[in-house]
Amino acid sequence: MSSGLAASLAVIAALAVDAPCGTVDATPRSAEVPPLKSAYRGKFLIGTALDVPALEGRAPLDVQIATTHFDAFTCGNSMKPDFTQPEEGRFTFAQGDRMVEIAQRCGATPIGHTLVWHSQTPAWFFKGPDGLPPSRELALARMRSHIAAVVGHFRGRVKQWDVVNEAISDAPGEFLRPTPWLKAIGEEYIADAFRAAHAADPHALLIYNDYNIKRAYKRPKALRLLRSLLEQKAPIDAVGIQCHWRLDSPDLSEVEDSIQQFATLGLKVMVTELDIGVLPTRYQGADVGFRQLMTPEQRAALDPYPAGLPEPVALRQAERYRQAFEMFLRHRDVIGRVTLWGPHDGDSWLNNFPIWGRTDYPLLFDRQGCPKPAFFAVLQAGRAARRSARR
Ligand code: XIL
Repeated sequence: MSSGLAASLAVIAALAVDAPCGTVDATPRSAEVPPLKSAYRGKFLIGTALDVPALEGRAPLDVQIATTHFDAFTCGNSMKPDFTQPEEGRFTFAQGDRMVEIAQRCGATPIGHTLVWHSQTPAWFFKGPDGLPPSRELALARMRSHIAAVVGHFRGRVKQWDVVNEAISDAPGEFLRPTPWLKAIGEEYIADAFRAAHAADPHALLIYNDYNIKRAYKRPKALRLLRSLLEQKAPIDAVGIQCHWRLDSPDLSEVEDSIQQFATLGLKVMVTELDIGVLPTRYQGADVGFRQLMTPEQRAALDPYPAGLPEPVALRQAERYRQAFEMFLRHRDVIGRVTLWGPHDGDSWLNNFPIWGRTDYPLLFDRQGCPKPAFFAVLQAGRAARRSARR
């Protein structure tokens, strides 16, 4: 057993309380362990995502875990354009308002996700009056008025915004993703979006957010985009690296190099959507439009733990979380926030991505709200850093 695994086990033993987990009664088990956020206070915010059921009052466990352990909340879906402006000129903010209210009640920082994206954006955005793609002027006007309305609505309450999401192409030799925004407006849409967000709330911290930009194939494109935004004096404050990871990829040294390189641009770095999936997966991206199609038999072969996460796998995952957080802590001068993409395994989008209908275990709490070995590993990393900072 590695020393890291042994350390995780020792911490679990030290922190464990007697009550059996899984028998959720009036006191869910996640409330019986030390709050994660207290171990990270003064280092960086530690966040989670609240999804539609939580914001509609149908998932009290999610809210309980979030308010106990995390001090930054992102809407998993409810602030995306398909929620905030489903039809032109009709805005819906109820779930976003609810997220902000829950955050304010427990002193957490509300985060906005996301304004300009190619996914989860209603088709009307990209249709002109004749049903054809919109003119440059129309697309720009729609983008600007969407940003003005949404950021304006949450002005002063939502403290950070993922302004543009996933604008960089995964294809070799192609710089920007050929989204309807790029096609209608041209490269300037990105800088323009940041200007519009800044105009709507000059105090909000503005983020460019993307997946795999810490990896060798995409990092040079990210550096190119970020440099160009800075040269154009676009009001960008931070780069968000999503961090949808697997047990064996990416290599953490690659991530660490990227954090350092992004920081040399003078930008803050946010880890915006961390999860560590444990299922076999060929596709290593996070493009939500992607699905690996297969027969039920093929899927069953790729869904090895429908009845529960075996302990050796849980410990491997804990060790990887520990290493990741130790690395994040080494760069706490530039990292402003680390957000986990959901409160517990039952909420994770990885149960349906990149293959529908599997049982994944990528987060810090299990489906009953019990802290997993990964939770204790992250807690321990934060506490150890606090101790060494005091010495
Ligand atoms: C995911 C949500 O978690 C899912 O519920 C939804 O079906 C698809 O989107 N990158 C992002 C997030 O920026 O918005 C995505 O969230 C995950 C990948």
